[in-house]
Amino acid sequence: MIDTYAVIGNPISHSKSPLIHSEFSKQTQQHIRYETILSPLNGFTTAIEIFRQGGGKGLNVTLPFKVEAYKISTQLTEQASSSHAVNTIVFDGDKIYGDNTDGTGLIRDITVNLRFAITAKRVLLCGAGGAARGIVLPLLKQNPLILTISNRTTQKAHELRKQFSSYKNIESGNYKDILGKEFDLIINATSTSLINKSLPLPQGIFSAKSLVYDLMYGNMNTPFLQFARKEGATHLSDGIGMLVEQAAESFFIWRGIRPETKPVIKMLRKKTQNDMRNK
Ligand code: ATR
Repeated sequence: MIDTYAVIGNPISHSKSPLIHSEFSKQTQQHIRYETILSPLNGFTTAIEIFRQGGGKGLNVTLPFKVEAYKISTQLTEQASSSHAVNTIVFDGDKIYGDNTDGTGLIRDITVNLRFAITAKRVLLCGAGGAARGIVLPLLKQNPLILTISNRTTQKAHELRKQFSSYKNIESGNYKDILGKEFDLIINATSTSLINKSLPLPQGIFSAKSLVYDLMYGNMNTPFLQFARKEGATHLSDGIGMLVEQAAESFFIWRGIRPETKPVIKMLRKKTQNDMRNK
């Protein structure tokens, strides 16, 4: 029997995961089946139970179920516990292993694909919601000079920082607090790009050498990236590389083989550009 995996979410039809995993399985000659599951908003546990009873081996979990997946996992990796969210599940008998590959995906994209070393750099993380929480620990593990978390709601930034109080190179505040500071790496982990809104960032935080990264993929003209460009930043990235890298990490967890990500990123970038043009 072919091993079956799936991505579960609501909505799910937009998900690029089936395409990415089909490329990975062709490339590595791992014959797997990869499905999509549209779970009712209040029926996540039932939906995954049906999948597991049917012999499903593992899942990718996407919005809005990452926190529920975290709660139902019987074993969690350090990355999943610090994120309070799970995007990769492995079923093993009664056990449900929960991991979160988003952070690893981001770090691989920045350090390997974009060849930007985070170590000893000044890093600004915009946002303190679910997406931001998933990348704090992987960023800290790269040993930046300082990791500054900025958020519209200051208290949420402080709470997120306190979760990592064993690290000394982390600070938190709101967007006014970063006036007069410059950063080498600026990451947008807020949901503003999804709703085409800008962030209240002060001028002067970017340099020509800064890497500016928007977690959203498929749009190099988000208000955040436009502002960075206007401020003189030239090294800009959307989150497409992160999307493929987090999928590769899930594939590795399930199959023990690490697929080549570069050709898949290239293919997906071309496809999303065409999709944007035909909109
Ligand atoms: P996600 O899982 O995408 O992170 P979330 O947990 O709802 O979603 O978090 C959304 C993030 O985007 C938060 O950091 C939020 O800031 P607040 O905590 O102050 O709400 C940020 N955000 C959303 N809309 C924003 C806006 N118009 N301006 C600034 N920040 C915004």
